[in-house]
Amino acid sequence: MRLTDDLIASDIGAYLQKHEHKSLLRFITCGSVDDGKSTLIGRLLYDSKMIFEDQLASLEADSKRVGTQGENIDFALLVDGLAAEREQGITIDVAYRFFATDKRKFIVADTPGHEQYTRNMATGASTADVAILMIDARKGILTQTRRHSFITTLLGIRRLVLAVNKMDLVDYSEQVFNDIVEDFYDFADELATDLEIQPIPMSALAGINITENSRETDWYDGPSLMDYLETVPIGDKRLNAPFRMPVQWVNRPNLDFRGFSGQIAAGTVKPGDRIKTLPSGRQSTITRIVTATGDLDEAVAGQSITLTLADEVDSSRGDVIVSADSPAEVSDQFQVRVLWMSDTPLLPGRRYLLKIGAKTVTATINAPKYGIDINTLNDMPAKTLELNQIGVTTLSLDQAIAFDPYDENREMGGFILIDRQTNDTVGLGMIDFALRRASNIHWQAIDIDRATLAEQKGQKPAVLWFTGLSGSGKSTIANALQKRLFALGKHTFILDGDNVRHGLNRDLGFTDVDRVENVRRVSNVARLMSDAGLITLVSFISPFRDERQMARNLMADGEFVEIHVDTPLNVAEQRDVKGLYKKARAGEIKNFTGIDSPYEAPLTPELRINTVGQSPEDAAETILDYLKEKGFLSH
Ligand code: ADX
Repeated sequence: MRLTDDLIASDIGAYLQKHEHKSLLRFITCGSVDDGKSTLIGRLLYDSKMIFEDQLASLEADSKRVGTQGENIDFALLVDGLAAEREQGITIDVAYRFFATDKRKFIVADTPGHEQYTRNMATGASTADVAILMIDARKGILTQTRRHSFITTLLGIRRLVLAVNKMDLVDYSEQVFNDIVEDFYDFADELATDLEIQPIPMSALAGINITENSRETDWYDGPSLMDYLETVPIGDKRLNAPFRMPVQWVNRPNLDFRGFSGQIAAGTVKPGDRIKTLPSGRQSTITRIVTATGDLDEAVAGQSITLTLADEVDSSRGDVIVSADSPAEVSDQFQVRVLWMSDTPLLPGRRYLLKIGAKTVTATINAPKYGIDINTLNDMPAKTLELNQIGVTTLSLDQAIAFDPYDENREMGGFILIDRQTNDTVGLGMIDFALRRASNIHWQAIDIDRATLAEQKGQKPAVLWFTGLSGSGKSTIANALQKRLFALGKHTFILDGDNVRHGLNRDLGFTDVDRVENVRRVSNVARLMSDAGLITLVSFISPFRDERQMARNLMADGEFVEIHVDTPLNVAEQRDVKGLYKKARAGEIKNFTGIDSPYEAPLTPELRINTVGQSPEDAAETILDYLKEKGFLSH
């Protein structure tokens, strides 16, 4: 999951290059400004001399202005000032800061602590090795702390610093510190079994246990925060994992050279290693590791390289090159955890783009199995996911991808979901495992196929999809058309919203989520009916373009006829055959199409029917003419 790497690369690449020989630790700070988070970051930057002279001068001036006592510089002012600067140029609510000491270089992801900002924290956490959880010693473990711990562990962070701050305000009491730590351990047991927790008593403002151990807490014999950050092991898991490299692009400057470029996601690689390219599974051997500064004998996770192979392997962007001995898995159906980041709730059944590594595919997400309350960690029922909610669900892709479970490899198992219309990132996801079902369910071969069934009926199957507002006349016209087709000896069936909602779909209401599911089920039934050789008339409001498109894609080529029964809202409302508009206006029915629920008119339907100047019988005749003209009825 590399939402932020471009930003980091362009912004501070030059700086990091200067410190290239040093290892890089990414960490995230969680907490609110009140907990002293900004002060802490400011202090770290200050003590590592990362503040430029002019900034320091203005900081001292600012601190005087706002009346900070004594010699204390107000570090929060510095960080908030930087944040404000950032916000002018970049609309992302994660601020990345960088600094270096003699031993290491660091990238800090600083995210707002408020509940609304779960998604920002998740973005920052997705690339971090360590999370610092800020606790106010006077307040102890809060709901916020639980939430932050859950999100950071969900996103794969296994090293937590429990920064018990403002110890100066509790007289550096060992008892207070111990109670908080004990509280946290009780809770952390539920989070993950492999967490490493480092509690540190500190005062960011007074500089206690930030860069060196302080007298005030002589009862504490652990490391200072900086000691910890400089020595905690990093990236060991990634380095020891089997080799993985998503192909960013195929590098082919001339006919003699063909290389696969990308950043190594895990493991190491050497010339001579046997590899596989996934999802195709073709095997080959590495011949060279090419970089801008010459060939390498070995490359490791995190490095950007170009690989050449011994064989002509047809691999393209988005494929993954893996160790042949321990390859990644390949599947098109998964159980996943999803953090929803959009104001528009998840629509199960709708298709979203799913971006994993360098690959983008289309995903249909099923209704969540359950949600997780991030404050209590309890499971809760969920039909959809709303902003900042986390749920466990299954999804299927339009093509197979190579992956590893997220808990084994964040880059190979993490993905983002993108709305196809707005292009917004709407969700962050983690693959738990592949569903074996994809490979275990086969198409049952049937000797009497759909062509034979249609032939027997002497007709060409079709799905006549009527869409339009409630009361627009869909069912009446479909009814008239069916009579005409029947008279012509055609085999037909009507699927009608009101009727199907009494049986197959009686569990569905009229929320967006339910309407998407309604149309998904009905389009599958229509597909089965056309397989049986029938001419199926489908009469559903089906208000969303996306699901009508899905229905179209489901049908055999040329069999889908979209008919927009284009009655204006005011006309349908005036007719009000079922008296529903009156009730909707009176607020007795919620989510009524055209009133407080949207209708997305088709842009290019096969037919658009005007019901104002024409009777239902005439409309049916118009459709019949169209079907004849297009050869649907000539048999
Ligand atoms: S759809 O939007 O999910 O395609 P569908 O065609 O199945 O709707 O059902 C629409 C019918 O349900 C309407 O013709 C009307 O009789 C009834 N109905 C009841 N409540 C609503 C509502 N809130 N919005 C639209 N139709 C409703």
